[in-house]
Order: sequence, then structure tokens, then C-alpha cells
Amino acid sequence: MNSASSPMRRNAPVFDVEAVRREFPILGTSVHGKPLVFLDSGASAQKPRAVIEAISRVYETGYANIHRGVYQLSQVATEAYEGARAKVQRFIGAASPGEIVFTKGTTEAINLVASSYGARFLKAGDEVVLSVLEHHANIVPWQLLRERLGIVIRVVPVDAGGAFRMDEYERLLNARTKFVAVTQTSNALGTMPPVAEIIRMAHGVGAAVLIDGAQGIVHEAVDVKALDCDFYVFSGHKLYGPGGIGVLYGKERLLEAMPPYQGGGDMILSVSFEKTEFAPPPARFEAGTPPIADAIGLGAAIDFLNGLDRLAIAAHEAALLDAASARLGAIPGLKIYGTARPKAAIVSFTLDGVHPHDIGTILDHEGIAVRVGHHCAQPVMERFGIPGTVRASFGLYNTIDEVEALARGLEKVREIFG
Ligand code: ALA
Repeated sequence: MNSASSPMRRNAPVFDVEAVRREFPILGTSVHGKPLVFLDSGASAQKPRAVIEAISRVYETGYANIHRGVYQLSQVATEAYEGARAKVQRFIGAASPGEIVFTKGTTEAINLVASSYGARFLKAGDEVVLSVLEHHANIVPWQLLRERLGIVIRVVPVDAGGAFRMDEYERLLNARTKFVAVTQTSNALGTMPPVAEIIRMAHGVGAAVLIDGAQGIVHEAVDVKALDCDFYVFSGHKLYGPGGIGVLYGKERLLEAMPPYQGGGDMILSVSFEKTEFAPPPARFEAGTPPIADAIGLGAAIDFLNGLDRLAIAAHEAALLDAASARLGAIPGLKIYGTARPKAAIVSFTLDGVHPHDIGTILDHEGIAVRVGHHCAQPVMERFGIPGTVRASFGLYNTIDEVEALARGLEKVREIFG
């Protein structure tokens, strides 16, 4: 279905989804003889040709280790790698490239902050506030820190629609609250806590804030200066970029004060057996040879997104969410978890009497890829008293026809299970 016939919001900017789809080679492939309907972008998004070609180009003509070679190829690779850092900086509105640390992904970025910021700034009895919506990647690192330091973890609940309970958050904040780490968008439900207000309130009690933007940055433009978060983390692979590369944004004065997370090459000024001097950030946090081509590929993904109208993408995804919520919500026995707005184009649901894994398998035979299970967010599943859901997560390349294909696939599941 093209943009002219999709139910775009009134006055929404035009978005040519068919033209965008042509940029993603994998969307032209088939699964079990059916055209691929890819509805698992929340787990990992597909890659546009521009990203695939950028990575190939690095290995074909521009690859060498960075920051180490006096020869031209190394300098070319270094410039491209640092150029990617500058693209990330501009993309999220950071003050300087020094505030952008490349990591393996969101998970490593959160572990880095918990470990390094924790070691420097937190002590036994300090409280870290999380929410029940968090992905395991924003829970377990804080539990590891609790083992190490004796910090206390406090958890903000959600209401029946999956909304972050601001009243409970306000009640939890106190003089012992030293850190708040929350998601911008729940990967399991799609709901979007009011992060600007959450940050403002945390700063009101003197706590630092990390925003897990792994899902959020995919669906909306982010300005870390306007948000005033202390840390912001995300992954390349969900942002239509390569795997193995992610970003930690940190305010310069905080990164400056933090000890290294890992030791190795490229993160030092000088090494002797008596004493080692560390490099300033971001190098201090990038020990060893980084994923050079993947960082450059992330830069290409950012260029690709910058070439589109992000408001138009958001309107397109909102139309997909509305269509999916209405169409799936009308299927007998289907229950959607996470109905609170605002929410991203993620629809998590169960179907009475059918195990999510069976649904996933039947849909796969229709060419439809969804994620089933607890989505690495067991606490929020427990909140709703379920072991797992089926999750359809939409990307900028999905269409209303694909929503319809999903609904037809679910009707088939209903027929099979009576
Ligand atoms: N965090 C990814 C997801 O939500 C893997 O599926």
C-alpha cells in the first residue's frame, strides 16, 4: 500500500513507504514461499542498502586499525570512525564528540555506567530508581552493583494500561535517591514514560539520570541537551544500523570524573608497571580495537534517517499503531498489553487458549516474523500475570497491508485452535 492510500493523519507530512521499502533488500525476500512480513524491528531492525554498502566500502577500500597507524589507510579509517562519532553527536544534540562513547550496544553502555559511575559516585544505602518496564539490560547491571556496593534498588510500578506511575515515582524520590535509570520506550509494551519530567524531578533531588533509548530513538528525534539527561544509551542495530555498535552519551564533566570500565590499548596516555595514566573520554572508555566498520555503518544509518522526514516517519508509524490496535483488538480472545498513550508502534498481545510460541510458529509459516516470549522484560510480564506475549514491533518500512496480513494470520491461528 502506498502513502496515498494509507490512513495518514490529517495534515501529516507525506511519507513514501514503497520508496523506502526499496532501500531494504531483505524486504523483497520470501519465507516459506510467502513474502516476508517483518514485524520484529524492536528486536533488531533491517538494514538499508546505504548501510550495507557503507560497511562493504570500508572493507573493500578503507579498512585499517584506527588511532595507531602513520600510514594513509589508517588515517582514512580513523577519520571515518571519528566522523561517525561526530554524526552521532549531531544526531542527538550532544555538546561535543567527547561526550559520545562507542560501545558494543545498549547493554554494554548501561553496564559501563553502572560499573564506572557507580564506583566513583555511589555507596552503600544510596538508592537507584528503576521502573517495572525496564529491559533486563537496565535491571541486572544495577543488581550486580547492589552486590558490589550495597545500593538499594527502588522500582516504579505501572498502571493497568502500562503507564509509568508518576505519583509512585514522586513518592519514591528522596534525599537518598542518587540515580534514576528508565526506559524512553518499553520494548515489551511500547509505552513511553514522560522522560523529560522524570529527569526534571530526579534532578530536583540531586539524582543523576540515565535514559535507555534503545527503542525510543528509533521512533522519535532525541535532543540530549533539551532533555538534560546525564546519560543516554542506544544500539545501532535497532536504528537500521549494524550490530555490535552502540552509543553511550554522557555529560562531559561526568565522563571526565569516571574511572575506566575496561583496560587495554587506546585508552591510555602512558603505561608503565608502576603507573598508568588514562586517556580522557571518550578514548578512556574504548579499550581495544573497536568495531570500526560498524561505527561507520552507524554513521550511514544516521545519514539515511536524516535524509527522511522524521516527523513523517512518526506519523506513518502512528498510523500503523492505530491500525494494528484497532484491527487486532477486534479479534475475539485477543488481549493487548500496554494500551497507555503515548506509545511507540509496538503491539504486545495474547490470544486466549493459544501459547505465544504456537502463534509465532504459525505466523512464521505465513511469512510473518514476530517475537514471542518475555522479551527480556520478565518483571513487566509478571506485573500482568503472564509468562509472555506475542509482540509485533513496526519499523518505518512496514505497511498497512502488513497489519492486515498479521490480522489474517491470527484469524488462521484462531481457526486452527478452534
Ligand atoms: N531488546 C530486544 C527486544 O526487545 C532484543 O526484542
